[in-house]
Amino acid sequence: MKIDLSGKKAFVTGSSGGIGRAIAVALSHSGATVAVHYRGDEAGARETLAQMRPDDGHLMLQGDVSEKDAVAGWFRSLHDAWGGLDIFINNAGIDGEKQPLAESEVDAWEKVISVNLLGGYYGVRQALQMMLPADGGVILSVTSVHEKIPWAGQSAYCASKAGISLMTQSLALEISDQNVRVLCLAPGAIKTDINKDVWSDEEQLADLKEKIPMRRMGDVEEIANLAVAMVSEEVGSYMTGTTVFADGGMITYPSFAKGG
Ligand code: BGC
Repeated sequence: MKIDLSGKKAFVTGSSGGIGRAIAVALSHSGATVAVHYRGDEAGARETLAQMRPDDGHLMLQGDVSEKDAVAGWFRSLHDAWGGLDIFINNAGIDGEKQPLAESEVDAWEKVISVNLLGGYYGVRQALQMMLPADGGVILSVTSVHEKIPWAGQSAYCASKAGISLMTQSLALEISDQNVRVLCLAPGAIKTDINKDVWSDEEQLADLKEKIPMRRMGDVEEIANLAVAMVSEEVGSYMTGTTVFADGGMITYPSFAKGG
């Protein structure tokens, strides 16, 4: 079976690097025309474009996902340029500083929620307003194993990812009879800049591998290829309102491998 996204229009937030870039690149090589989005890293976004299948229809959008007017503006641009949108990848996110909740800085906590949860909501809402009248589309949010796994010092991040997951399930109840599918993809520890502090430190990397039954970190392509499959009709046509985990087994309580 071959996945063919020819003619499909896709928008990937946070695609100037990491998982977002890999998804944009994979979508384009499966035939889609893609809008790359970045906040500050224009050079990164240009590199994503350079890695994509050449297509005059590709676009580049800039701004902050936590600013709802900016988000609305991007969707107007997509509408003007393409006339519609088939695939929305809600990917942009931050993990924020580690801080125990009791001593957390309110601004820092709010920032993570603004970007990951509110920013995701703004994008998904706008995407729906284009897709529902057109009677078709797929929305995939990149969450994390931390939509399920608690993480000390990262309560805002966990709350934001769990929020997107349950938002998606609730949304599925509202619209699943209208040809728009809504999904979450939950990566585990994928080697990107977001966790460079961990994988570049021998001790921390060894500790991380203890938490992964497959005993290795994932690659961005392993997430990107799965995202392409999930949004495609060839693989994903009967999937909605669910999360697929790609985490080397991280959500299986690895500490129970021994004892108990
Ligand atoms: C985080 C990474 C972390 C992984 C597994 C991801 O959501 O962004 O920093 O390595 O979860 O804990």
